[in-house]
Amino acid sequence: MNGQDRRLPYDAQRVDTPLTRSAIFLVLEVVDEPTAIETVRSVLSSVADISKNVAFRDLTASFACTVGLGSVVWERVMRTERPRELHPFIPVAGDVHSAVSTPGDLFFHIRADRQDLCFEFERQLLAQFGSAVRVADETVGFRYFDVRDLLGFVDGTANPDGEELADATIVGDEDPGAAGGSYVVTQKYVHDMEAWHALTTEQQEQIMGRSKADNVELGGSTTTQKSHKSLATVKDEDGEHDILRDNMPFGSPAAGEYGTYFVGYSRRLWVTERMLERMFVGEPRGCHDRLLDFSRPVTGGVFFVPSMSALSRLAAA
Ligand code: HEM
Repeated sequence: MNGQDRRLPYDAQRVDTPLTRSAIFLVLEVVDEPTAIETVRSVLSSVADISKNVAFRDLTASFACTVGLGSVVWERVMRTERPRELHPFIPVAGDVHSAVSTPGDLFFHIRADRQDLCFEFERQLLAQFGSAVRVADETVGFRYFDVRDLLGFVDGTANPDGEELADATIVGDEDPGAAGGSYVVTQKYVHDMEAWHALTTEQQEQIMGRSKADNVELGGSTTTQKSHKSLATVKDEDGEHDILRDNMPFGSPAAGEYGTYFVGYSRRLWVTERMLERMFVGEPRGCHDRLLDFSRPVTGGVFFVPSMSALSRLAAA
């Protein structure tokens, strides 16, 4: 939602915004009051205007905000059929680790190269919502060195780009009512840094499937235990299915909190769901992603990011 050069088809929101230095991940619940839905419709129709106001304060700061809606409020807010695959986050229970589902009706992915712009947008947004929403989760993310997560690995390398990016993220004619939109899955992970640091670098690299210092892919494992990289790769007879990840570190050394906010945009929700199943249940079953022995998800949500024209139609109505 800003005026940068467009590469995405239809009039998609800016899910393709390049990684920024700062971000705020905001999950809201719509309260159960008679006027709340109308307020939400009105605010969503003006998100582009708030974005413009804030982005204009520094046009070099790559400000962008994408907004997604959960399945529970979709029909009441959008008054259109739900995108075909949209449903609440389905918890995944592996033998050892589980992916939890947590409440949330609206997701705002607010990003810029300046934290003050993200802050200002959130301030104006929440002022407009007033008492129509309550905050389920607010996470402030930051860029850590050369795009590393707090576990020390470069995160985001295998993301699709160019034409592949639109193909992997934007719904097309297969669901005409939802065309121009994207599914987004969010999970907030907290890390056990002490346990992670007790591993050798080689052990960490085997878990991730990439070398730590120079981010080079490691060869396939000779054991049945697959790396995070391999478990998160989904292939079938149509080839490899990518998603676009915008993970960001967050945390507070004073509070002993260290985490990664996982955000995955996709054209097909089932792809991200298959990745989660491979990670948590394991492939083969029981050989779960060892990253989960050190990283625990405390939230889980699924949202659909409608096209910009679908949002602006809310105002017309
Ligand atoms: C790859 C970190 C959770 C999907 C990677 C890489 C790192 C990483 C360092 C290798 C570099 C890269 O290609 O980006 C993490 C951390 C997570 C997390 C710290 C949370 C604690 C997830 C989740 C999913 C996922 C929940 C999907 C549901 C992927 C995919 C790749 C990847 C698709 C690329 C695989 C390929 O090489 O094709 N992740 N990840 N990750 N991750 Fe994650």
